[in-house]
Amino acid sequence: MKKAMVSGVTGQTGSYLAEHLLDQGYEVIGLHRRTSNANTNRLSNLLYQENFQLIECEVSDSGSVYTVVDQYKPDEIYNLAAMSHVKTSFEQPDYTFQVDALGPLHFLEAIRRFSPNTKFYQASTSELFGSNYEVDKEGKSYQDEDTPFMPQSPYAVAKLAAHNLVRIYRDGYGVFACAGVLFNHDGPRRGEEFVTRKITKWLSEFVHWARRTKHPAYELSLCFNEDNILIRADKEYSFPKLRLGNLDAYRDWGHASDYARAMILMLQQELPDDFVIATGETHSIREFLQEAFSHLDIENYEDYIVIDPKFYRPAEVEYLCGRADKAKRVLGWSSTTTFKQLVSQMVWSDINGKETQSEEEIKLLQEKTKFIQRFSGSCL
Ligand code: GDD
Repeated sequence: MKKAMVSGVTGQTGSYLAEHLLDQGYEVIGLHRRTSNANTNRLSNLLYQENFQLIECEVSDSGSVYTVVDQYKPDEIYNLAAMSHVKTSFEQPDYTFQVDALGPLHFLEAIRRFSPNTKFYQASTSELFGSNYEVDKEGKSYQDEDTPFMPQSPYAVAKLAAHNLVRIYRDGYGVFACAGVLFNHDGPRRGEEFVTRKITKWLSEFVHWARRTKHPAYELSLCFNEDNILIRADKEYSFPKLRLGNLDAYRDWGHASDYARAMILMLQQELPDDFVIATGETHSIREFLQEAFSHLDIENYEDYIVIDPKFYRPAEVEYLCGRADKAKRVLGWSSTTTFKQLVSQMVWSDINGKETQSEEEIKLLQEKTKFIQRFSGSCL
């Protein structure tokens, strides 16, 4: 039985990765950092599985990493532990470097010293490209393995250091180390501080608020002031609008479960290499909003949001659209979830309070939320 170690296993992609590895017959050692409150909600299906164990490890502490690698000598290590929020990295650059640059260094060094046959996967990111892109013959802008990097945040600089360390340990010490340059990957398990989930979570809270507020004796209608949505029934009820930053950035959004599959494939190749993982399709935050709100037949999403400078970044990555031809050719990998499917899954999972994918289940939920249509757009 192959043994895989996954750092960041309590996160969105870590949880999908652990599930895929267990499905493929691996023993999985999940690493998580100590927190005062348990954050294992994404692992509830796995915690009591025979081949899964969760152990504490702090990736920014070399001794902690050396100990677990030396003790378990896994066949494969997937380093997904990171301070992964780009905006936070401007506010906590030092901490970001410790986790995102030193963390991978500790794993590579531990492999070199104690477990040289262990294969290593590092979670690199499309943020490495920053503002750089190429233009193809049809005039489409994209990034791939040949696009030069130009990081735009402390997060991306730390990730670039890690990306280069992977190459150096591969070429210099012969470590089987791969970096996956993953474009945005989201889904119902996405952290609530990332823009996609922030939108779908807010939508579900709005729906539940409207349902609770619905008063049968009144013809309900919605009104908007600067910061709130109002329902005037027996009295006035109010709900805060969704506060967002830059809506004009473009992102290439895939499903985290698909992207976790690509990580495993990378470590099964004969030779280690780096790969871009992306859908090849890009959408602005505005398009995401439009698509998400359309599930509730709300056309005027602009009325429901406030642009808040607090959510702007000191430097923004405006355009990401990956070209994953190499991953398709070499790994046989491609994304299986369309943009529309991703948004639908996220919206209805949040409204339903659990991961929801089946069309029948979604149809039932659509029926139950039809009442929203009645007051969409109306104002007293
Ligand atoms: N988080 C957030 N919150 N982003 C907002 C908001 C807001 O209220 N309003 C607008 N945005 C914009 C951001 O400025 C950015 O352009 C875009 O939405 C996406 O932001 P995030 O969802 O925070 O993701 P990200 O693209 O910065 O980073 C994610 O993808 C990277 C891969 O490209 C993260 O998962 C990174 O860890 C990952 O490396």
